Amino acid sequence: MLLRIPGVYPPQDDTWLLAGALAEHPLSPLTRVLDICTGTGALALRAAQLGAGSITAVDISRRAVLTARLNARLHGHTVRVLQGNLTAPVRAEYFDLVTSNPPYVPAQDDRLPDTGIAQAWDAGTDGRALLDRICAQAPDVLAPGGTLLLAQSALSGVDKTHVMLEEHGLQVDIAARREIPFGPVLTGRRHLLAARGIITADQRTEEIVVIRGRQHT
Ligand SMILES: C[S@@+](CC[C@H](N)C(=O)[O-])C[C@H]1O[C@@H](n2cnc3c(N)ncnc32)[C@H](O)[C@@H]1O
Repeated sequence: MLLRIPGVYPPQDDTWLLAGALAEHPLSPLTRVLDICTGTGALALRAAQLGAGSITAVDISRRAVLTARLNARLHGHTVRVLQGNLTAPVRAEYFDLVTSNPPYVPAQDDRLPDTGIAQAWDAGTDGRALLDRICAQAPDVLAPGGTLLLAQSALSGVDKTHVMLEEHGLQVDIAARREIPFGPVLTGRRHLLAARGIITADQRTEEIVVIRGRQHT
C-alpha cells in the first residue's frame, strides 16, 4: 500500500508498465538507482524491493517528496528523496539504473504549471517539455554500462526520444508497450488533440511505451 498526499500523482498504468520493465532488469546490492519524477516513490520502492542497493528519488513537488519519504519509511526501505528539477540535485553523481515516468501529456500551451497536480502530466503543446530535457540530461548521470528506463505516451513522439537518446550516445530499444484507454485528462483534451492532428477524432486509446537506453561500457 502506498500513502498519497492530495496533489500527488496516483500510480497508474504507466507506473506499472515501467515497474514491470524494472522487474526484468537485474538489480543487486551494488546497483545505484535514480528515479526522476518519483511522485509517491512507487518505482523507487519497487527498486528497493527488487534488491537495489542504493536508491535516490527526485521530484520537483514538495508534496511528492514528503509522500515518497513517508512511503519509504512505511515500507522500511532507505530511499534518499531530494526535491529538485530532474537531474539537477544529482548532477555530480552516477547511477547504474535511471527510471523516469515524467509528465508527457500534450497541453493547451507551453507554460508548465508550477503548482497543483497538473504538474504531474502537463508537458507543453507537444508533450515533450520534460522528455527532451530528460533525454539530454539522463545520459550524463548514467554510469558506464548503465540503463535508462523512460515511460511516455506514443502521442508525445517515441521516435524523437529514440533519436535524442542515440544522439546522446545510448543504445536504444523498446522495453515494454501497452495500449490503454484514455484517462480523464486525455478524455478532456480529445477535441484539442484531434484539432492538432495528434489523435484521430474517434480515438479513445493511447499507447504507453517504456524506452530503454543503454550507456556503453
Ligand atoms: C506522471 S507523474 C509520475 C509519478 C511516479 N513516477 C509514478 O510513476 O507514479 C510525474 C511526476 O513528475 C514530477 N515533476 C514534474 N516536473 C518535474 C521536474 N521538472 N523535475 C522533477 N520532477 C518533476 C511531478 O511532480 C510528478 O510527481
